Amino acid sequence: MAKIKKTARLPYETEPGVVHAENTLSTLRYDDVYHIHHVGRVKEVVRQSNYRFRFLTDGDVRLQIEVWGDNLIRFFYTYGRDVADFSYARDPEAQPQSAHVTCHQEAEGYFIDTASVSVRVDMVDAAVSISDRASGKEIHRYATPFYARTTLMKGLDQMRLQVKTAAEESFYGLGDKAWDTDLRGRCFENWNSDSFAYGRERDALYRTVPFYYGLREDHAYGIFLDNTYRTHFDFNSSGDGITTLWSDGGQFDYYFINGPQLDQVASRYARLTGLPELPPLWALGYHQCRWSYFPEARVKEVADTFRKKKIPCDALYLDIDYMDEYRCFTWDKEHFPDPKGMISELKADGFHTVVMIDPGIRVDEDYPVYVDGASKDVFCRRSTGEQMVGPVWPPECVWPDYTNPRVRDWWGQLYQELYVEHGVSGFWNDMNEPAMFKVNALTFPPDVRHDYDGLTGDHRKAHNIYGMQMARATHEGLRKLQPEKRPFLLARANFSGGQRYASLWTGDNIASWEHLALANRQCLRLAISGYSFVGTDIGGFVDDPTPELLTRWLQLAVFHPLMRVHSMGNNTDGAAEAEAAQVQEAEATNRQDQEPWVHGGQHTDHNRRAIELRYRLLPYLYTAFDRHIATGIPVLRNLFFYDQQDPQCRKYGDQFMAGEDLLVCPVTEPNLKSLTVYLPRGRWYSFWTGKTFTGGRTLRVRIRPDRLPIFVRAGAVIPTINAVQHTGEATQLDSLHLTAYLDDSGSGSFYWDAGEGYGYQNDQYLRRSYVLRREGKTITLEQSGEGAYTSRIQRARIRLVGFDSVPSQVEVDGERQPGAVQVHRQTANLVVPFDFRKITIS
Ligand code: GLC
Repeated sequence: MAKIKKTARLPYETEPGVVHAENTLSTLRYDDVYHIHHVGRVKEVVRQSNYRFRFLTDGDVRLQIEVWGDNLIRFFYTYGRDVADFSYARDPEAQPQSAHVTCHQEAEGYFIDTASVSVRVDMVDAAVSISDRASGKEIHRYATPFYARTTLMKGLDQMRLQVKTAAEESFYGLGDKAWDTDLRGRCFENWNSDSFAYGRERDALYRTVPFYYGLREDHAYGIFLDNTYRTHFDFNSSGDGITTLWSDGGQFDYYFINGPQLDQVASRYARLTGLPELPPLWALGYHQCRWSYFPEARVKEVADTFRKKKIPCDALYLDIDYMDEYRCFTWDKEHFPDPKGMISELKADGFHTVVMIDPGIRVDEDYPVYVDGASKDVFCRRSTGEQMVGPVWPPECVWPDYTNPRVRDWWGQLYQELYVEHGVSGFWNDMNEPAMFKVNALTFPPDVRHDYDGLTGDHRKAHNIYGMQMARATHEGLRKLQPEKRPFLLARANFSGGQRYASLWTGDNIASWEHLALANRQCLRLAISGYSFVGTDIGGFVDDPTPELLTRWLQLAVFHPLMRVHSMGNNTDGAAEAEAAQVQEAEATNRQDQEPWVHGGQHTDHNRRAIELRYRLLPYLYTAFDRHIATGIPVLRNLFFYDQQDPQCRKYGDQFMAGEDLLVCPVTEPNLKSLTVYLPRGRWYSFWTGKTFTGGRTLRVRIRPDRLPIFVRAGAVIPTINAVQHTGEATQLDSLHLTAYLDDSGSGSFYWDAGEGYGYQNDQYLRRSYVLRREGKTITLEQSGEGAYTSRIQRARIRLVGFDSVPSQVEVDGERQPGAVQVHRQTANLVVPFDFRKITIS
């Protein structure tokens, strides 16, 4: 393992030349002087309401504790003046839930108890400890008293929490980190950063999700730090048994989420920060992207090739070059003379068009977006009052201040022409960290001012939510412009809660095997951090994948909710654009296209097969999304979510559950002939052969070039369809396949709707549940349902895998159906009406 580099600044260190106030002598001068502030001794506790407690102390840091639910406790530390209780991350619907809360004081401690936890606040220094009431275990204990630090030059520059780390404790989550699955032993920073060609060591990346899980023995809990400043999470990097969290400013507002199950923590965090809407079905299809497809003839050629080669595809993307010299909301008229015509032609062939929109608006007096924006004063200003001007793709840009509701409205209506008139289906918001070229900081200077929804602040406070508020402005704008459509938005930078507005991809990765493994880890980590609708640049953005790498990546991405190939083609990193040598090198290496057919022959066949599998599994994936938006349980989960008591599941942390029932084993090395996989407790079927295996053990599996090892939970009932060329065809199908993997009992579900629109939020959906039973030789499959959507599905094609007898009698809804079942290789097949109630085979 590579040596871990600590961040330059740890909480207990300070910069040279900066001294503590107590060490200063009045005649000497220093670069800066700092003061430490504590909560201090608790003098009185005021119970302000059933759920809110305010601690009056002799220190100058204030503490308020709120009970948001039996399992959700908020700790709100402020320093200085009273601050508004405002959060971009929290779902506006999330409110403290009425819980039975009792409190009492003992000599040295104040206790707040719910049905799930007991919180103790030490009267001497306000240090907190939390115990789980069911197990009696202590899960959260301060290692040092909480403190805030101010300096003469910077004001409040640090708020710090230190909690004890257990000997056997693992840490997961934290959004997008390219690091190993367990975060223990490393210090991470949260600061949205344009991260071209990032590697495993690079931190921070594009987005900030200051939420993590701790898993102690078999008890899981979560911590969500709702602070938008640069924050740092140090998971025992110096081995002193301490986890330290600190922010470079703001209020320290954190939530403790009790488990004990990881799924429960995921679901509680999702309810606090919000759940996305159901994506339009087409967005779960296959997407093809490149920097950049142009002119129009090339776009059509790509579309035609998909159809000719019978490789399914739903979306084609236009990167920055479709614009008129990087002016957002315009077209390059030479390359795209008739955008509306082109888009409708593509639509007729089942393709949705997605276009990029950046936040950087070119400074140009002849460009209506700039002129209108300037006249309405929508662009960010510096502390001096002048506009913030800097280079991105155009040499001089200005940036809307999306933290202002008036600016969000202005931004939303800019999509009118593209979305309503030209028929663009979805949008891709890039560079919204916000990224800036030419400077090492890669972003705005800290003095830039933001409205922050009326609370005002500088860029240190607004940086991490800038991209999220851009995504929000776009999402809200699209909702207003076409209220009958579900928006599809792909955004790069984001913050906790941003899952309500956009899907995301992991940015500018590299075509390497290491990146394939990272891609999977990043998707899993994001999924368990509230972002289920995630994907990577399949095949790698920088450099060219080998044929095998592209195939393996596609095979894996079948299970990543956003399935999009993207590559940088012959372009260079914008920051290095001026360097001719790099441009020449890129051209000399003649970077190829990355469509699924580029490598020809059997590679195209393998790639087609992978994409077809994605389409076959669409009902299963859509059903997993339906469950996600109802419960907050992630669509993808590491194996240890399946069984958190089994240490082996943590060891095989890269294997994952896609939806409830499919266990996927990624292949992340070239030329692999066999692989050791781990099957958790229970019984499993090979997805491919129907062979059964007892879990709780490792298995050496043979690796084939055309597929990954996939297993199905015994008892699962998996809904699939025939492979189609695009999702428009999927909604027209008249048969659904239901494959039941036999066990003594089992269950499954199927969700379906029109694939678009909001009818599903009323009664225009179908939700079917299946219950499977086996008693002796008799197998029953029962169906129940809800929802009023009338689909075109007429038939259910049932497969019972693991069927090892000869059927003598078959009944469908009480009627005998002699000869209806065909048995082949331990699989019983029969076709029944889609609305069947009960099938009995004995
Ligand atoms: C950024 C994006 C990348 C895009 C490129 C050009 O690097 O991350 O996906 O292709 O800009 O727009």
